[in-house]
Amino acid sequence: MLDRVAFLRNEIRRHDRLYYVEARPEIGDADYDALYRELEALERAHPEWASPDSPTQRVGGAPLTAFRQVRHAPPMMSLDKTHSKGELAEFDTFIRRQLPDEVWDYVVEPKVDGVAFALVYERGALARAATRGNGEVGDDITANIRTIRSVPLVIPDAPEVLEVRGEVYMTRDGFAALNRREEEAGREPFMNPRNATAGSLKQLDPREAAARPLEAVLYAVGAVKGADFQTHGEMLARLAAWGFRTPPWQRLCVDMRAVLAAVDELQTLRHSFPFEIDGAVVKVNRRDLYAPLGSTAKSPRWARAYKYEPERALTRIHAVTVQVGRTGVLTPVAELDPVLLAGSEIARATLHNADEIARKDIRIGDKVWVVKAGDVIPAIESVAAGQRTGGEQVFAMPAACPVCGGEVMRIAGEVAHRCVNPACPAQLVNRLEHFASRNALDIRALGEAVAETLVAQGKARTPLDLYALTVAQLEALMVGDAQTGLRKFGKNAQTVVDALEAARDLPLDRWLFATGIPNVGVTVAENIALAHADYFALTDSPTLQQVVRLETLGEEARHVNPRSRDRPPRTEEERRTRQEQHLHICGEIGVIGDSLVERGLARKKPGTALPPEYIVDVKVESAKATLRFFASDYGNAWVERMRALGINPRAPQRRAIASDAPLAGLTFVLTGTLSQPRSAFAERIEAAGGAVQDAVSKNTRYLVAGADAGGTKLNKAQNLGTEIIGETQLEALLGVQKSVSVAGPTAEPKTGGYRQEELF
Ligand code: IVH
Repeated sequence: MLDRVAFLRNEIRRHDRLYYVEARPEIGDADYDALYRELEALERAHPEWASPDSPTQRVGGAPLTAFRQVRHAPPMMSLDKTHSKGELAEFDTFIRRQLPDEVWDYVVEPKVDGVAFALVYERGALARAATRGNGEVGDDITANIRTIRSVPLVIPDAPEVLEVRGEVYMTRDGFAALNRREEEAGREPFMNPRNATAGSLKQLDPREAAARPLEAVLYAVGAVKGADFQTHGEMLARLAAWGFRTPPWQRLCVDMRAVLAAVDELQTLRHSFPFEIDGAVVKVNRRDLYAPLGSTAKSPRWARAYKYEPERALTRIHAVTVQVGRTGVLTPVAELDPVLLAGSEIARATLHNADEIARKDIRIGDKVWVVKAGDVIPAIESVAAGQRTGGEQVFAMPAACPVCGGEVMRIAGEVAHRCVNPACPAQLVNRLEHFASRNALDIRALGEAVAETLVAQGKARTPLDLYALTVAQLEALMVGDAQTGLRKFGKNAQTVVDALEAARDLPLDRWLFATGIPNVGVTVAENIALAHADYFALTDSPTLQQVVRLETLGEEARHVNPRSRDRPPRTEEERRTRQEQHLHICGEIGVIGDSLVERGLARKKPGTALPPEYIVDVKVESAKATLRFFASDYGNAWVERMRALGINPRAPQRRAIASDAPLAGLTFVLTGTLSQPRSAFAERIEAAGGAVQDAVSKNTRYLVAGADAGGTKLNKAQNLGTEIIGETQLEALLGVQKSVSVAGPTAEPKTGGYRQEELF
């Protein structure tokens, strides 16, 4: 069995390398998944065989609160830049003068436009990864780098210590897909792939980093013990043999003439790489010349960067159209007079959102500079304002959805405008596609073309309609269009029906993601799923209401804070009142925050007290969107359909499931005089999943002290460090979950402290 584990790990590593590094896979997804699942199952059954080097352990560990600092030895240098061929020739002359008796050649490589980083392997195992930082000290980003599948966790026949250095980057396609996701979630898109990469590496939660399309290429070594390389070329070959991705294009050049030709060749190839390159790097090949050539304070004297000018083109916007995405987000697009840019003809450029248009003051009829920001759709860099004729028109986002005529809204806290009609045809196709996508229910035979056909023929208007389709109906479906050719869906029909049946048993996180709620991506769905027992517990979820309440209270605390710089109290009396209010709110924050901590959904920021601050795993916008969805007519109808279909996904079993009851696992002791009999409070605590004890013990979470409380219980609580709260704080805990004990259609109206924004 242990042999099998070792075999599977090696086999998966080999396939990872073939797929991610060498781009020549030997097996398909399904076979790979089978190996992976078998390994996961064996590791689950035998926790004693766990190993951090296992391919299953790329994404793991709790989110960090901050990055550790790492000192680089030797420091990570940057490169001196040259902007002309003349300057490159001077580089050659300089070396000739320094080393009159030597003969050397050069290596030319692309300058990858990403974020520099370093990897340290100790006895062949990845021990550490760090950003360049200021060159001397960087951030420890090991957890994030481990999620990049082209970075090996172990390397064969490794020297004792091997530090490799290179660049983390995103491909243009990966970046475009990420930005589409960001825009659909109503978030500000990233400016370019480098920004997106840097932002991804700064994620404290490795699961966030894992969801980003990060890649890595290695082109240098730092500290090495137990290996030696004569030339740069030899070093690159050894890195490749160890399983690292190295620059995909390299030229060995015997002299500066050959270098200049290579630089030109690379420039013509510049746009054929799947990622951005912003120049060429010219390096002396012989490593034994590095020491005699030495370095300046920042850069080695044996290498130079040659920067290519970013390409831009001037053209005119003749119209602005609006696209509607899966979640109803409206994206304005500039329709351009066609122009040649970076090797292709450009006729459209994304304008992202209304803010972006206003910021750049882009008008219809404007002459604009277009750049390729790494996106497949290029971006408008700036307006050539000097060329305005006066006839340009300011663009306004439409008040009605261009696809369905439904209402368009701008949600608080989002940059995006959205069509809020969930029955919008633009969203129907996308909703079906999303529902069937890999991270959702993974109904493989159901792709875009099938979704379009089903919607166009009225066979499925919402994803759950799929469950009403018969094999015969699906078999007869003609998929495709006149251009691509029509074909019968045929035997794929059975596959879809089987996959849908199998999907009934998928866990809660997959179903929640499949539901297609704005702001609820894979990670958020996983986090929410961990705190709920099943799908129906999501409707009216007290836990999500607490997340929202915590945010509201934070704002209230800031507002009344007597030490506020923006709004200082004007009188002593006001100061005192506000101090009291502030303390009260801070207490409530602590109680709600701690209860979220208790259920594994939040962590307290150390050292914060007034108010205590929490890092909550579910963003407030996601919590609001989920509550809003399940409170909407569409959401209600959806839940009813799920019920009728007998589908109630349960929380994933991988990790401990916290009950959805807000006080689950919390033990209370009541003392002193309360405003109602203690038994009334005890009943409410128990209805919310908590327990009430008679005496304070080390298991007691809260001692609720009423008026004239005193004596043994208080003393005991103080000795044990048990938290002592008052009736108001208890009410805060109970208040946000009033409806829990009366769940069902007769539940009290949701007054969980959040304003109900009608989205659906
Ligand atoms: S060599 C000591 N090679 O460009 C020399 N750098 O300003 C180490 N870069 O910080 C760098 N592609 O982030 C080298 N093929 C390549 C590169 C490359 C991109 C980046 C790197 C460096 C910056 C130079």
